[in-house]
Amino acid sequence: MPHLIAPSLLSANFLNLEKDMEMVNHSEADWFHLDVMDGVFVPNISFGLPVIEKIKKFAKKPFDVHLMIIEPDRYVERFRKAGADIISVHAEACVHLHRSVHFIRTTGAKAGIVLNPHSTVSLLADIICDADMILLMSVNPGFGGQKFIQNTYTKVRELKELILRKNSTALIEIDGGVALDNARQLVEAGADILVAGNTVFSSEDPEGMIRKLKNF
Ligand code: DX5
Ligand code: ZN
Repeated sequence: MPHLIAPSLLSANFLNLEKDMEMVNHSEADWFHLDVMDGVFVPNISFGLPVIEKIKKFAKKPFDVHLMIIEPDRYVERFRKAGADIISVHAEACVHLHRSVHFIRTTGAKAGIVLNPHSTVSLLADIICDADMILLMSVNPGFGGQKFIQNTYTKVRELKELILRKNSTALIEIDGGVALDNARQLVEAGADILVAGNTVFSSEDPEGMIRKLKNF
């Protein structure tokens, strides 16, 4: 499958989200990536349920919701109702990750597991067949526009190996510092989905940038 592009609205213009959403709708992007932060799990607060519910009406592409919150199980059903198609929770935020992943699936959403840069791929060995997607953070979560962590390439290769070994169908998503200078290498290492915030929205031609990230 050709790799997918998921622009992160965290770097969009919040004074005119409709315009940026129309750009994404019109572009070669595949998903909207939505970063939800609670100010506890990560040192930042972004947006939540009411915003997602409203913008869903303008979206022509699936909502990939990245929950950077503690105790995500408490909110999963509400994010699904608000319009989430894929819901990803951090392994570091879930005491009972297996339960959380299956709970997400009961809502009808696809379930993703996120690993912070310090979390090792091997901790996914016994849950890789239960997840629809693994999101590897290539920066420490909380902010857009940070520097890509080089160790991510090794992690993508390790994860791809684990997925193949376990016959899992999980897709690999990369989030943080994705740009034209690392996109190809990430896809070659095994990435299926690239999230891009700053690279897309700080570009003079965001739609053209999405096209470049999609076709190389
Ligand atoms: C960071 C978020 C990312 C962020 C990526 O905590 O999870 O999705 O928006 O932004 P860039 O692409 O600017 O690093
Ligand atoms: Zn994200």
